[in-house]
Amino acid sequence: MRIRRCAIVFLEPREDVAFDFGSLLSGGAGLRRDRRWLALAAHLDGQVEVDAGERERLGEFGPVAWSEYDPGSPDAGTTLRLLETGLLIAEDDARWSAHRQRDEAVRDAHWWPPAALAHRLARWQGLDSAAAMEAGGLSTAAGLRDKLGAPPTHAVERVGAGQRQALPRIADGDFDRLLARRTTCRNFDAARALPQALFAQMLQRVFAARAQVRIEDDTVFVKKNTPSAGGLHPTEAYLIVQNVEGVAPGLYHYHSLDHALEPLPAPDRPLAEFAAAALAGQHWFADAHAMAVLAPRYARCFWKYRRHPKAYRALVLDSGHLSQTLYLSATELGLGAFVTSAINEVDIEQAFGLDPLIEGPLAISGFGWRGERMRTSEFDPTEEVWIKAPEQP
Ligand SMILES: Cc1cc2nc3c(=O)[nH]c(=O)nc-3n(C[C@H](O)[C@H](O)[C@H](O)COP(=O)(O)O)c2cc1C
Repeated sequence: MRIRRCAIVFLEPREDVAFDFGSLLSGGAGLRRDRRWLALAAHLDGQVEVDAGERERLGEFGPVAWSEYDPGSPDAGTTLRLLETGLLIAEDDARWSAHRQRDEAVRDAHWWPPAALAHRLARWQGLDSAAAMEAGGLSTAAGLRDKLGAPPTHAVERVGAGQRQALPRIADGDFDRLLARRTTCRNFDAARALPQALFAQMLQRVFAARAQVRIEDDTVFVKKNTPSAGGLHPTEAYLIVQNVEGVAPGLYHYHSLDHALEPLPAPDRPLAEFAAAALAGQHWFADAHAMAVLAPRYARCFWKYRRHPKAYRALVLDSGHLSQTLYLSATELGLGAFVTSAINEVDIEQAFGLDPLIEGPLAISGFGWRGERMRTSEFDPTEEVWIKAPEQP
């Protein structure tokens, strides 16, 4: 059997601090500090605690060249344990073929190693972030100020007022008025279905290809309404459709060339429950008529930007641009829109059948009719969207 180390692994000397009553009684600080070494690997779901022997043994293997396994060596037990955890990879042994497949997938995608790890570790599962914020008193601006103190300044000044060059203020045009009306919607009208034409127009504007440029039969670039790093447009739209006329509620993939919906199997729980879970409990978004999970195909971006330190950043920017196109498109059509990166990626991956390092979600951007009553606050200080009722005499 031949073995090598997995493609992407980092070792962290982790310190966990816990309350320790015994330490308090004996005059200490009342804290216990436990230190351990953790191996964090891009192809594994969990972290792996390693002892000093395993740590050293792992360092004896390279990620590319294969070495022959020697069952008679004094290190054989340590090597086997590293194979079991997936930190070492066997070339062709059925016992550990799942680890090998996962590792191969990471290799084939050409991830820059720190980005692969950051992406994998930042994912949530089953988290209710809304409840956590509310419990911590962090769900209002006043609560944030109270708990965290003042934030860094809202506007930076690098020179004194006298040294600034004043610029002319240009009168608002139609586009300025559109920009001014864009306000994150946290109050959707669940009682009113979205007409199919509006839904289709939104998808066409935000995700459809306008043209294809064929370099070779296997190498095609598409033109869309939003910029994309390298012109690669790797970000797919996976849809949660809840309330659209003529479209059965459910999960879909959007086909950007055909401008068509590809139905996918239903999630493992009622759709509304899944939508709320995907949004990590943010109930103020959960009634949106349609939501797009923004999920880049990492290998398409990293085909050009191989193991590139900026490539993951470019994908995050791509999703940001898509969400802005979605916001503005919705605003122009009289709809509300939102974006959030506070999502339960693992629940979403499981529902849509996505592998996080191949095609994992970064954000959800949704749209639909805004409700008539504001139940959750929106940031509309200039009253572009919500007109205050006149004060009673
Ligand atoms: C990357 C990103 C992530 C966001 N995540 C959340 C979120 O998790 N929950 C939420 O209620 N709003 C979220 N928002 C919306 C912001 O809170 C909102 O843009 C901000 O309060 C300013 O309000 P406005 O969009 O109406 O101008 C997010 C916005 C961006 C750009």
